[in-house]
Amino acid sequence: MEIITSVEKLMDVAVRERAAGKRIGMVPTMGALHEGHLSLIRRAHEENDVVFCSIFVNPVQFNNAEDLEKYPRTLEADVQLIGDQADYVFAPSVEEVFPVKPTEVYDFGTVANVMEGAARPGHFNGVGVIVRRLLEWTRPHKAYFGEKDYQQIAVIREMCRQCRILTEVVPCPIIREPNGLAMSSRNRRLSAHEFETAANIHRILEASRQCTSVAATKAFVETEIAKIPEFQLDYFEIADAETLLSTDDIHNPHGVMGFITVYVGPVRLIDNITY
Ligand code: PAF
Repeated sequence: MEIITSVEKLMDVAVRERAAGKRIGMVPTMGALHEGHLSLIRRAHEENDVVFCSIFVNPVQFNNAEDLEKYPRTLEADVQLIGDQADYVFAPSVEEVFPVKPTEVYDFGTVANVMEGAARPGHFNGVGVIVRRLLEWTRPHKAYFGEKDYQQIAVIREMCRQCRILTEVVPCPIIREPNGLAMSSRNRRLSAHEFETAANIHRILEASRQCTSVAATKAFVETEIAKIPEFQLDYFEIADAETLLSTDDIHNPHGVMGFITVYVGPVRLIDNITY
């Protein structure tokens, strides 16, 4: 595995691999890798000839300075974990990616405006800015993203559609801790007690499957979350799995999903469930 820090080198290598007829898989990450990321990298390795993994804490997708500052940065450990599952790790500096402050303003429509889009203004614009650059520089056949960030996948698909990026966006299942908590780099910021308590997010979502209407499901989840003193609910939405718009119809033909964001102490965690 080779570590690349310059955009010029990244583009050179990617062009060379493509010209040699290799199928390219890309796994964009912000580092602090866990089993969830490794599952994406392994899948990319299985389905492609060459795998690029990027590790870049993208400042323009953070709408909270403290969150950006506290985001774990563990490049050496990440590189060890990736081992020989990726051929190239792209780990640039902020100045390399953004020699000038990016000014692109996208309109990704409703998928970017609801839930995380409403709660974190500018977040998805920042995701679009970085993912577009990474995909244009590397031109992968396939790019892999975890379904914990289900809405992000919808936004990236829309970005690819609008920008005519032909990479196939591959959604990959959520990987969970043994206690059920969705794996996230942010879990490292939880105390041992918070880590165990946070497992209730998934437990409550699973239990909510017994409810037979959208209203009953919302009431159940909100009540159960409120019972746990360490939790502060940011939102729980039940939405059409395709448009991500709120739905009152649990039998919606596109599929129905629940999307939750909870603060556990100072740490903001997200999860989702298919009904
Ligand atoms: O999901 C993430 O880790 C980030 O949002 C991504 C896709 C790597 C863009 O910075």
